[in-house]
Amino acid sequence: MKFNTKAIHQGQHPDKETGAVIPPLYLTSTYVQEYPGMTKGYDYTRAGNPNFTNLENQIASLENGKHATIFASGLSSFTAIISTMEPGELVLSTDDLYGGTYRIFNRVFNQYGILFETISTQDLALVKSKVENLKPKYVLVESPTNPLLNISDIEEISKICKANGSKLLVDNTFASPYFQNPLDLGADIVMHSTTKYIGGHSDTIGGVLIYNEDDLKQKLDFARMAIGLNPSPFDAWMTSRSLKTLGVRMERHAENAMKVATFLENHPKVNKVYYPGLPSHKNHLVAQKQMRGFSGIVSVEFHLNLEETMRLISAFKIFSLAESLGGVESLVDHPASMTHASIPKEEREKAGLFDGLVRFSVGIEDIDDILEDLKMGLG
Ligand SMILES: Cc1ncc(COP(=O)(O)O)c(C=O)c1O
Repeated sequence: MKFNTKAIHQGQHPDKETGAVIPPLYLTSTYVQEYPGMTKGYDYTRAGNPNFTNLENQIASLENGKHATIFASGLSSFTAIISTMEPGELVLSTDDLYGGTYRIFNRVFNQYGILFETISTQDLALVKSKVENLKPKYVLVESPTNPLLNISDIEEISKICKANGSKLLVDNTFASPYFQNPLDLGADIVMHSTTKYIGGHSDTIGGVLIYNEDDLKQKLDFARMAIGLNPSPFDAWMTSRSLKTLGVRMERHAENAMKVATFLENHPKVNKVYYPGLPSHKNHLVAQKQMRGFSGIVSVEFHLNLEETMRLISAFKIFSLAESLGGVESLVDHPASMTHASIPKEEREKAGLFDGLVRFSVGIEDIDDILEDLKMGLG
């Protein structure tokens, strides 16, 4: 089965009891037991719910994985991963990454002895020497990164990890399973904030891990139940519904984003455009090798001072100034003061994220209206 067919049919079988084409929403916290311990597979929704199972089957199939575990948020997926670690073990990560991911490691779990170090994972020689010397438990690669759209070579990093006993975890949120499948490139675990493209309508929060190892299914389902990392059945149901249109949405996001990136690259008020689909992007060839499309995020530095930049991003009519990304509506974000404010300025600037950077999440509105809004704001 191909992508869009799987997205619509996997884990989404009509209801046997009523014939309802769409699986019902199981808004229940608990389940009847005929005799203590005699269940139909579910006993308490913190541990499991049919809407979780349906979504897990649907997402696992789209990432070509055997198992998936869904969580309350992208960040709670990381909490589950960390619960599989021991104090003193290291996560070696991409240096340019979502601010909340940096914060969960550096301000929360560092207190319990989980080590975290960031490097440029685009530099394969550096990755090799760090992995050989430090033997991290996990190498966490975000690709494309939030917000600079850096691309790391997943296949090459997976070879380095395999040779050194480290597990490769890829945050695939920006690409979505439609454009990139890290398990096929050798990764051990794929992570998504389903809040973004998979949810696609800025109305749910969720996370997921997808993987092939049978042991991990038991460990990650246990982490969800024992720590209380479960989503609500309603969010799981909404996410299943959204996933069915992921393919068509992603095609349009990418088409619009390419036009926005090209327009901005040729605009006199623009200093630099970051979009992996542009031949001028420094990792364009690696992106072409491992992605089937370049997704919908474009980051930009303008020839404007900070105050002018702030005024510009508050002036748009189609692009709403808001955190988050990946919804059908266009959003604009100022990473240094919004999504990435939790990373100390010095660390941010070391990774190339300066105060003037603006991140556009290009929606699926009509491109003429999107370009008109950019022209109006820049004018
Ligand atoms: C790349 C990336 N990973 C993880 C997260 C965290 O996900 P959530 O907000 O669903 O916890 C985000 C959120 O913006 C993100 O952009």
